[in-house]
Amino acid sequence: MIWTIFLIFQAVLLYFLLTHRSRSKSDPPLDKGVIPWLGHALEFGKDASKFLDRMKQKHGDIFTVRAAGRYVTVLLDPHSYDAVINDSDSLDFTRYAQVLMERIFNLRLPHHQPSNVSALMKKHFMGVNLAALNSTMSRHLQASLKTEMPQNQKDWKEQGLFNLSYSLLFKAGYLSLFGGEQNNNGTDPSSVYEEYKKFDGLLTKMARGTLKPEEKRTAQSVRQRLCGLLAPAGLTQDSGASPWLHAYRRLLQEDGADEETQRKAVLMQLWATQGNVGPAAFWLLGYLLTNPEALTAVKNEFSAVSTMETSETSLLDRPVNTPVFDSALEETLRLTAAPFITREVVQEKTLNMADGQQYLLRKGDRVCLFPFNSPQKDPEIHHEPQKYKYDRFLNKDGSVKRDFYKGGRRLKYYTMPWGAGANGCMGKKFAINTIRQFVYMVLTNYDLELSDPNSQIPEVNASRYGFGMLQPERDLLVRYRPRNTH
Ligand code: HEM
Repeated sequence: MIWTIFLIFQAVLLYFLLTHRSRSKSDPPLDKGVIPWLGHALEFGKDASKFLDRMKQKHGDIFTVRAAGRYVTVLLDPHSYDAVINDSDSLDFTRYAQVLMERIFNLRLPHHQPSNVSALMKKHFMGVNLAALNSTMSRHLQASLKTEMPQNQKDWKEQGLFNLSYSLLFKAGYLSLFGGEQNNNGTDPSSVYEEYKKFDGLLTKMARGTLKPEEKRTAQSVRQRLCGLLAPAGLTQDSGASPWLHAYRRLLQEDGADEETQRKAVLMQLWATQGNVGPAAFWLLGYLLTNPEALTAVKNEFSAVSTMETSETSLLDRPVNTPVFDSALEETLRLTAAPFITREVVQEKTLNMADGQQYLLRKGDRVCLFPFNSPQKDPEIHHEPQKYKYDRFLNKDGSVKRDFYKGGRRLKYYTMPWGAGANGCMGKKFAINTIRQFVYMVLTNYDLELSDPNSQIPEVNASRYGFGMLQPERDLLVRYRPRNTH
């Protein structure tokens, strides 16, 4: 008995000695929290925006917190963001991405070369191939809309706007990129969406490693079902999938990934390509419906465009200028895009802040930017930051407004929904095009209104801060019917 107590005591002492950390003069302020090892993990996970605001009040624009055994240096001064974004030698994007890959998708890629995957993405989502992808997406979007909202329907149909936007965009995106129509194993987009929603609901807990045993079992079986549904996607050239997915499959095969690993990797791509667009379109339509002036401005711009158009989908076929829509979307993303930009410190680095201060970043720690708190919700940068102002990013003469200030200096990053630098979003153009096309189709072909005219935009689900687009706590009920049939 005495020996057991002695050994436990020794183990605790050893653990303390190995993990003890105190602040040196060159370190950012250190806040370990009161709970050993766990530190601030619970508060961080519950509502990261609120927690990081509290830490900022206490320590300023840079501080290091302990969360679940890791030390994370959080930087909240947008004037200093480039010091992190531009140093991919000391601050690595891939390592943390691999941790998430393993936790969420149970995926470990053999001989993984992220630069090859990036090159493929660039080729298909940013270059000359984008136009073809845009028209495929437009075609599927139109077909999905017609199935969901038949043109001959006369009565109002009621539905939650989040589910409506997410499911329609998911199905059209799935068909465009992953195929499905031509598979004879029943992989229709609706069944993929149903499973995907369950997976998405557990995503933040998977990423944090906080699933309860029952949830773990559910996550595992949903993942398996999704992998089964995605099995044929992109395998052959005639699988109905996009050239991008087919090339991605080939790359995985060349890297020596077995069949199961490939399916998990395809599931990861499903999440990366479909997880943000639907929620973004929901928030945009939600803000427009709850701000009549904004809705009128966007509709007016669309009707001016459509008088110049010959087909109802041609918004995607050639570049059109829609500054009002662009500002309304930018403002939506300012309020609802909340990714962590996380990097792992792979070699010790001195971080030079814009105000001249210098801090040491320790090897093995993580660095995290949270643009949602600053610049996006910073009252010094954006007047009344909680309010939706569709024209916030427009000058009086209707041109794009790009000058925003903090501390008297003009900002490079005044909103940052897409990340930035070498690891910034590669799907940005495709996503904006898709959302614009979707909102255009809905607003020009349907009457869409709030079921209860007094409804407000729902609160966000605070547990999702850090994972891209936020999602609402509850849905927003809307009703719709085709135009000109009554
Ligand atoms: C509203 C929709 C979207 C938002 C708000 C969004 C946001 C982001 C953000 C913030 C990052 C940077 C992460 C970081 O630096 O740590 C990112 C990366 C990325 N996004 Fe998006 N995204 C969206 C849609 C899409 C779509 C539709 C695609 C593909 C079709 C896509 C593909 C990617 C890829 C491949 C990366 C990783 C870049 C890399 O590995 O270096 N995104 N996205």
